[in-house]
Amino acid sequence: MIQTLEWTSSGVRFIDQTKLPTEETYVTCTTHQQVADVIRNMVVRGAPAIGVAAGMGVALGIQNSEASNVSALESDFNSIAEIIAATRPTAVNLFWGIRRMRDKFDSLKCRPIPEIKAALVEEAQRMHAEDIAANQAMGRHGATLMPERGGVLTHCNAGALATAGYGTALGVIRAAVEQGKKIHVYADETRPFLQGSRLTAWELMKDGIPTTVISDNMAGAMMKQGKIGAIVVGADRIAANGDVANKIGTYTVAILAKEHGIPFYVAAPFSTIDLATPDGSKIPIEQRNSKEVTHIAGRQMVPDGVSVENPAFDVTPAKYVSAIITERGIARTPYETSLRSLDRTDR
Ligand code: MRU
Repeated sequence: MIQTLEWTSSGVRFIDQTKLPTEETYVTCTTHQQVADVIRNMVVRGAPAIGVAAGMGVALGIQNSEASNVSALESDFNSIAEIIAATRPTAVNLFWGIRRMRDKFDSLKCRPIPEIKAALVEEAQRMHAEDIAANQAMGRHGATLMPERGGVLTHCNAGALATAGYGTALGVIRAAVEQGKKIHVYADETRPFLQGSRLTAWELMKDGIPTTVISDNMAGAMMKQGKIGAIVVGADRIAANGDVANKIGTYTVAILAKEHGIPFYVAAPFSTIDLATPDGSKIPIEQRNSKEVTHIAGRQMVPDGVSVENPAFDVTPAKYVSAIITERGIARTPYETSLRSLDRTDR
């Protein structure tokens, strides 16, 4: 399995996703500030991977703390958490990961500092293992929705690289292929950061899953030609009513799917579901540097001075979502009730 990120004795090690698909290199962070930088710069990206990275970043910061009493350690915890929380606003997993470390820390406040430090490392490693298990469970549930054969379209990268391993949307596809379904993946290239062509295609090729990369503006034509039997994407945050924030362009794909009568599925773990946010209009959307749009591989593609927008995510209204695949089962409309009832389900 691809090692997206891992806790090692010398720090937190990440595969550098900005260098893929041509270079497979790794970056090791030894401070929480470095972890914050790799999240912000998208060396690591994808909501569940960001959540686990946040947990490991907190654990790393606490290991490095020189605090000699628990109240000084708590003040270090607060500043570490603040630095990591300020990296990317949309994926709720980032805040979920920090919250989980905070809860662990709170439960240990009366313990000696070395014990707290060790327990936070263990908690971050547990989050890593649980994410892989959640993706595998999601795969088992979601595979039942995949066609026996034919094209499945995905947008962005919701694969092993976007998680601790196996993937959400690509986990569903992997599980379906493992069950013997003959799936051919259509990967939207996903402008401007090209997660589809660089990352989704890279990991599916490694697994030998047949894949065709298309530019984003080809998706409608592929659907019209009958090449797509289902769509499955990941999510960065799902509101209580089932509205889905995911990579920019997902909304367009969902509307095209509706027009062509193709099921549009979202696969995401519960760490991505934000029941405290009532609907998609309340989800903060990250605006990224305009250079991601104006330049491709370092080469300027638009005239100097032109205005550019670069929202990293859009929100797909729940009415376009055929089902939400989670590790606890499949939710269907009305999502207000189905998500809440799965939230109360034990895995
Ligand atoms: O900007 P990114 O690459 O972090 O965006 C990633 C996505 O939008 C993914 O689809 C989402 O995080 C789900 S990953 C399992």
